[in-house]
Amino acid sequence: MNRMIRCVGWLGLSTVAPAFAQSHEAAAVLSPEALAHADGEQVFRHICQGCHMPDARGATGAGAYPALAGDPNLASATFAAEIVLAGRRDMPSFGPRPDLQGFDAMMHVDLTDAQIAAVVNFVRSHFGNDYHDAISAADVAALHPATPRKP
Ligand code: HEC
Repeated sequence: MNRMIRCVGWLGLSTVAPAFAQSHEAAAVLSPEALAHADGEQVFRHICQGCHMPDARGATGAGAYPALAGDPNLASATFAAEIVLAGRRDMPSFGPRPDLQGFDAMMHVDLTDAQIAAVVNFVRSHFGNDYHDAISAADVAALHPATPRKP
């Protein structure tokens, strides 16, 4: 139940991310149960593409969403996993955030280490990216202590 409230709350992000709102008009929103079992591609389709676009080429408008297609920074799986875990500027964090409270906690989507690994592996091996040294859930878990939390 708690998870459902938090997921529904996060969709409120559409008010501050127009690109996200647009894609959600076209895409079905995953139920909390489905999200909990989503694989890397499903996580991308239902969360990441709202900002990075379905073809991962990014977008500029109200904000700047960088392309993940052909992104040379994705050569490092660790770099990508750290960004997804901790967020950076307008990129939300998807790792554990026990520090958040109230509305911020409701907005937060907490992906599992396995899902973070899966979505990182997905973007690194699609959209013209050709990196096949997969990162594991254990690798992602090992990054938590070193990952600075988004303020
Ligand atoms: C609310 C919009 C939003 C969502 C949702 C989002 N991102 Fe981002 N992402 C951004 C923005 C904005 C940046 C640029 C951050 C900065 O300015 O440093 C970014 C940056 C990144 C980067 C770093 C790119 C680089 O080369 O520096 C990666 C990797 C990334 N996102 C992956 C993902 C993945 C995977 C997901 C889904 C789990 C996702 N993003 C969901 C907005 C978003």
